[in-house]
Amino acid sequence: MTTVPALTMNDGLTIPQLGFGVFRVDPEQTESVVADALEVGYRHIDTAALYYNEGGVGAALKASGIPRDELFITTKLGNDRHEDVAAALQESLDALGLDYVDLYLIHWPVPKQDKYLTAWESLIAAREEGLIRSAGVSNFLPEHLDRLAEFTDLVPAVNQIELHVEFQQRELRAYHAAHGILTEAWGPLGHGLGLSSDPRIAAIAQAHGVTVAQAIVRWHLQLGNIVIPKSNHRERMAENFDVFGFELSAAELASIAEIDKGAAGRTGRDPREV
Ligand SMILES: NC(=O)c1ccc[n+]([C@@H]2O[C@H](COP(=O)([O-])OP(=O)(O)OC[C@H]3O[C@@H](n4cnc5c(N)ncnc54)[C@H](OP(=O)(O)O)[C@@H]3O)[C@@H](O)[C@H]2O)c1
Repeated sequence: MTTVPALTMNDGLTIPQLGFGVFRVDPEQTESVVADALEVGYRHIDTAALYYNEGGVGAALKASGIPRDELFITTKLGNDRHEDVAAALQESLDALGLDYVDLYLIHWPVPKQDKYLTAWESLIAAREEGLIRSAGVSNFLPEHLDRLAEFTDLVPAVNQIELHVEFQQRELRAYHAAHGILTEAWGPLGHGLGLSSDPRIAAIAQAHGVTVAQAIVRWHLQLGNIVIPKSNHRERMAENFDVFGFELSAAELASIAEIDKGAAGRTGRDPREV
């Protein structure tokens, strides 16, 4: 069985660097999709209340018989629940059939409603109660992270952000590194808009005898990102997991760095607008 490297978070706990995302997996199909992912070898699953498929994830976890301490489960707080964290978290735990989640994220800062600081204080309390092991955020910009640091003592373990070869998030990654926050990449393969067609990636994949998807996942791992590709197809799940038998050179990493389109590469929503 493949051993996925673990990264140590700022709270001393570890997270498997490669996981499996379930955004846009049909709730009806989620149990069988996650069962496939677990059979392939994934032990880190990323879901959210807003995906409406935590129940399917929970059913697959239960049926797998895999010991709880071998699993790493992330879910996320819905945008309309920033003042209602205890109830929202309990609903997620009930749907997942778990006593605790390994990582709980504030899904979006939603600066227009300006309640994320209240939500963060509630995550801190939930962590103290043992309902979540690690507390993190998603889609936070430095201005939001600075505000958490100003008013609370707990630095998020992780910030899960859109990040792929066309949107490499250099400044935010540097901010994370300076503040002890791990970078988790969502939409790592391009967020369903198709894999990058850039000839530089194709050439690198060909040189290693791997697919473009494998070269991209490997790039994330070597950058130090946590990466959570999604697929409904078992053969692609296996492909995306089979990334530990080759290594990109410094020259290849430099070539991929040139693909970055900066802000123009963003495919998802701007965190200021959500
Ligand atoms: N925090 C947030 O706001 C946020 C936002 C978006 C996503 N996420 C998380 O990040 C995870 C991953 O992001 P994502 O689902 O948006 O996009 P992604 O993983 O970048 O891309 C998924 C797409 O790539 C296709 N794909 C997967 N493996 C492939 C392969 N080997 N070859 C060719 N195509 C392949 C999938 O198609 P098939 O399924 O048909 O194989 C799907 O269309 C999500 O599932 C979710 O857990 C978080």
